[in-house]
Amino acid sequence: MMGHTIDTPITRAQRTVYHYLITLCVACILTWLAACTAENSSNTAGSTVDDAALLALVKAAGLTGDPTRGRSLPSIDDPKAQLGKQLFFTQGLGGDSDSACVTCHHPALGGGDNLSLSIGVGAEIPELLGPGRHHDSVAIHFDGGPTVPRNAPTTFNIAMWDEALFLDGRVESLGKTLGMNGGDGSGIRTPDSDFGVADPNAGATLVAAQSRFPVTSPEEMRGFSFEAGNSNDAVRASLASKLTNAQGWGAEFTVAFGDPTITYDRIADAIAEYERSQIFVNSPWKAFVEGDVDAIGESAKRGAMKFFTSIEAGGADCVSCHSGDFFTDEKYHVLATPQIGRGKGDDNGILSNDDFGRFRETGLAADKYRFRTPTLLNVEVTGPWGHAGAYASLEGVVRHMLNPAEAVANYDFSQLDPNAQAGDMLTNTQFALDQLEANRVANVSGVHRDVEFTDDDVTDLVDFLKTLTDPCVKDRGCLAPWIPDASDVDPDGLRLHAIDHTGALL
Ligand code: HEC
Ligand code: HEC
Repeated sequence: MMGHTIDTPITRAQRTVYHYLITLCVACILTWLAACTAENSSNTAGSTVDDAALLALVKAAGLTGDPTRGRSLPSIDDPKAQLGKQLFFTQGLGGDSDSACVTCHHPALGGGDNLSLSIGVGAEIPELLGPGRHHDSVAIHFDGGPTVPRNAPTTFNIAMWDEALFLDGRVESLGKTLGMNGGDGSGIRTPDSDFGVADPNAGATLVAAQSRFPVTSPEEMRGFSFEAGNSNDAVRASLASKLTNAQGWGAEFTVAFGDPTITYDRIADAIAEYERSQIFVNSPWKAFVEGDVDAIGESAKRGAMKFFTSIEAGGADCVSCHSGDFFTDEKYHVLATPQIGRGKGDDNGILSNDDFGRFRETGLAADKYRFRTPTLLNVEVTGPWGHAGAYASLEGVVRHMLNPAEAVANYDFSQLDPNAQAGDMLTNTQFALDQLEANRVANVSGVHRDVEFTDDDVTDLVDFLKTLTDPCVKDRGCLAPWIPDASDVDPDGLRLHAIDHTGALL
């Protein structure tokens, strides 16, 4: 029969009936599928989130969508920010003229360096940033691996920090001052002043205060011979003279400050205004919180539900630390992310290449292994993640946040650059895990708690985190105002023209 079908003429009427039946069938199947999904929508992966319920949760957590609310922030077009851009990109601020701020904080690399741990001075190819950047084998302290003990955080949205900068908060506001010194007159403490004591030279903002220090670090910018053994202030004064002698800078300082005098205070002020102009907060998440419920997808909404819901109610309670529109409580917690690299020289009794985090500043036992809660805005582009950059994927660090001990036990060393010093990882990190456990037993307030989760939860949380990305940070054209080009003068001829490992300009 099958092989012998005879073509019978079909009338127009018959064809219409067939079409009608097929359409009806498709409609039936769609209705049936929709019914199935609705039936399962309570708690399974693939379920739909009630937008109103999620928005209510988010509003209850105090979010408005806009972390810039109430702040006065500079524009990249301001003369000081423009001068700051040139200063941020010049290796002239390096003692040996081979490292600049941008070496570790390039806008095209998420405001960081796309490395677990940074390499500042003594790089094989100083202008090569990101994977493929190596320490030169003839450089001081060469061991094949990176030279800086911590991951370089992003400078994006740096103006939003109110309490402290650096992962251990060693530049910190002594009052609640919206990141500004003088808001309540109590000032800013820095490594140049004693703990709890204001540094009279800190400048107007936390960011200005911070920018006084990278130039004094031998590994980051100073090198090992420039002003060796001399005070931080001697280094700064010497750099100000270096720029003065380079001639070209005077005119640029005149545009920004009204006269050509070059001091390190002015350098710090200008660099800070450049960094503070790096505001990237226009994310799909912001649109969602402001009421556009179609701005983010279903998986992201499920992730957000998990993020903002308490553990008791079946969530992951990420919001207990990553709180507010800036996604940080600006406090310090033990998370025990893997400790790799050279460490800070802290001695845990077995090894002396550990990093005690906040304890290094306060000396309080309770602060051992605590690090400042990072912001999660644009976190998609700021990897690798963790204070030592041990996680090469967002999925990896999210799993860690859900259950630190399990994540460390399952840690995949192949995600690291083979040159990273990781041989002591398990020994050092166990001390941090033990501290976490001790804090749990002692019921320390705000201590991390493990969360039960599925692989789908991890996917959902990662999808949620990706909604915190401002599309500008992935678009070289959109970032162009923050990167000097041929139209900007290069006052000392020492601008860093960054390339990646393929030789492409960043
Ligand atoms: C060799 C790499 C390197 C260079 C060069 C460098 N930094 Fe950093 N930067 C880091 C690392 C690593 C940290 C984190 C250190 C810590 O917390 O202990 C950091 C921290 C910061 C922070 C604080 C971020 C936060 O979230 O608290 C700011 C701001 C910053 N750097 C700006 C600058 C400026 C401005 C310059 C130039 C004057 C500069 N950096 C030069 C690697 C570098
Ligand atoms: C108890 C406080 C706390 C909780 C709860 C918490 N975090 Fe964190 N989170 C931190 C701290 C502190 C760090 C930094 C750890 C480090 O640097 O070693 C961090 C780091 C991160 C990072 C890496 C960011 C970066 O720039 O390196 C991500 C992503 C992250 N958390 C997401 C989450 C998610 C998702 C949850 C919920 C599943 C969560 N966190 C729960 C405190 C917390």
